[in-house]
Amino acid sequence: NSVITAQKPLNGKNVLVTAGPTYEAIDPVRFIGNHSSGKMGYALAETLAEHGAHVTLVSGPTHLKTLHKNIQVIAVTSAKEMFDNCVKVFPSVDLAIMSAAVADYTPVEVATQKIKKTEQEFSIELTKTRDILAELGKIKGPKQLLVGFALETNNELEHAKGKLEKKNLDFIVLNSLNDNGAGFQGDTNKITILDNKGHTEVFELKTKTEVAHDIVNKILSLLHA
Ligand code: CTP
Ligand code: CA
Repeated sequence: NSVITAQKPLNGKNVLVTAGPTYEAIDPVRFIGNHSSGKMGYALAETLAEHGAHVTLVSGPTHLKTLHKNIQVIAVTSAKEMFDNCVKVFPSVDLAIMSAAVADYTPVEVATQKIKKTEQEFSIELTKTRDILAELGKIKGPKQLLVGFALETNNELEHAKGKLEKKNLDFIVLNSLNDNGAGFQGDTNKITILDNKGHTEVFELKTKTEVAHDIVNKILSLLHA
């Protein structure tokens, strides 16, 4: 007797996904963060896992949970922690999708005690974080796929195309904030996919789960090309 198992399209594939915001500590009680909910990255991880992939989800602070047995969550806080984990995991994956909203700047120094208010003005010196996606683009092997996101408010196609090329991506998902309901905290996104062959595909406003399916379909088409 032979057991027949339905072959899922991403069986045996290892995938790295980043999700959520990062928090950059200022002192023991304060941080610089952003409004990313993590929903897009978690929806992607779930959809990839349903298609048979083994997913490592490097997640910044979110309220989201996943119970899928094919998803391993690595919880991180800062951009530096996210960078270190991604660089470590990337060599063993077939595909990486960076959907996290990573801080571009972080405080030069973290105060060891809570900073007290004074009568004076106050400012914090910031230094640039390292770009995780750009770093993975540099070390990417010929068989690895690398996917990024772009959040733009103006000249969006031009800016997204610039990131696609500069970071050596296979494709980039442009998130448009212009339509009602699309954005960081909501349940919907309006995306355009630009790939490195010059193809551009515009999608309707959809739920993040539907968007995740569109992105995974694009990945499947590239894997079979
Ligand atoms: N990204 C990353 N590491 C960073 C910054 C960004 O991996 N330190 C990734 C994001 O996860 C996303 C892509 O790079 O997939 C684009 O992020 P975005 O903030 O839109 O672009 P930046 O290159 O940071 O440029 P800017 O914020 O100035 O538009
Ligand atoms: Ca940025």
